[in-house]
Amino acid sequence: MRKIQFFDTTLRDGEQTPGVNFNTNEKVQIALQLEKWGIDTIEAGFPIASPGDFEAVQAIAQVATKMTVAGLARCQKKDIDCAYEALKDAKHPQLHVFLATSDVHLKYKLKMTREEVLASIKEHVSYGRERFEKVQFSPEDATRTDKAFLLEAIQTAIDAGATIINVPDTVGYSNPTEYGALFAYLIENIKSDEEIIFSSHCHDDLGMATANALAAIENGANRVEGAINGIGERAGNTALEEVAVALHIRKDFYECESTIVLSETKRTSDIVARLSGFAIPKNKAVIGGNAYAHESGIHQDGVLKNPETYEIITPQLVGVHTNSLPLGKLSGRHAFTTKMAELGYDLSDEEVQRLFKKFKELADKKKQITDEDLIALQADEVRRS
Ligand code: KIV
Ligand code: ZN
Repeated sequence: MRKIQFFDTTLRDGEQTPGVNFNTNEKVQIALQLEKWGIDTIEAGFPIASPGDFEAVQAIAQVATKMTVAGLARCQKKDIDCAYEALKDAKHPQLHVFLATSDVHLKYKLKMTREEVLASIKEHVSYGRERFEKVQFSPEDATRTDKAFLLEAIQTAIDAGATIINVPDTVGYSNPTEYGALFAYLIENIKSDEEIIFSSHCHDDLGMATANALAAIENGANRVEGAINGIGERAGNTALEEVAVALHIRKDFYECESTIVLSETKRTSDIVARLSGFAIPKNKAVIGGNAYAHESGIHQDGVLKNPETYEIITPQLVGVHTNSLPLGKLSGRHAFTTKMAELGYDLSDEEVQRLFKKFKELADKKKQITDEDLIALQADEVRRS
């Protein structure tokens, strides 16, 4: 089984979510939970961005024991020096240096030529490598970069000492076929004496961030970057919990493993939701409130007979206590009688017949039927009889 490393950027790219601002204490709490979840590397922040970011990176560097702690830097010496300072207490520090490579970024944002970009990559990756054993380089907007130039930029970074190459789909423009093929092309054409880790970094603008990350893995990427609950700039980053669970559930297909402790997934997601103030949508894959809920009669009947009929993930796998069978107008007799038994009612066939009819009438008027509704229906039935 090929090992896939998990790089979590909840505290850096994830914090770029408009409206999210973690303080140092909150960042440390999240970082410690991420370490429990089993990630390989945490991107603790962008140390030069603010004194608060610097302090948080430093605090995480001091408490992390197993995981590598990375800090982000632009291709600027002052950024690299600042990241070095913030990470100097880390047991396993890593520099993450980036520079855009697409023409649109060069022309309008950086106002640099391709030659200048290559020179800057060479200068700053080497400068970083003099201070850090592990240097990651990201050609920002890689998926909208001319392919030959992207290869040249990445080869320049490798020649200057980068051993981790991250390929960002910065604006979520790519699709699984294209993104996977890009990895295959880069891995095939890069020359290096050292082992290079190729990493995916996807954004969800077109709703393909998880699919793109998995396509990269299928095509040789051995690291995935993302954020818990998929938080991040605009539509967000790859939701790491989705990748972790997909690799596990479809081990038959991906033939990969990771160090992620899946039973800590829900706890990790809950902490990030609480501290970010971003509630998890009910229908969110893997950790949404409805991910293990079955409402229609046919599904409920199947699940009561054997959960495998409609559940590919057991809730317990990700640390969710149990599945649920919420009662609504589509629910069937099997789920209804099971619920009534759970509530302590031993109903005769005749009582079930009458109560189920009343339940359906009520369910037509209400979105969801609660335990209290069922208790009231039963009490009414007793009163009338
Ligand atoms: O999306 C992106 O390009 C980034 C880089 C800084 C890696 O977040
Ligand atoms: Zn990003």
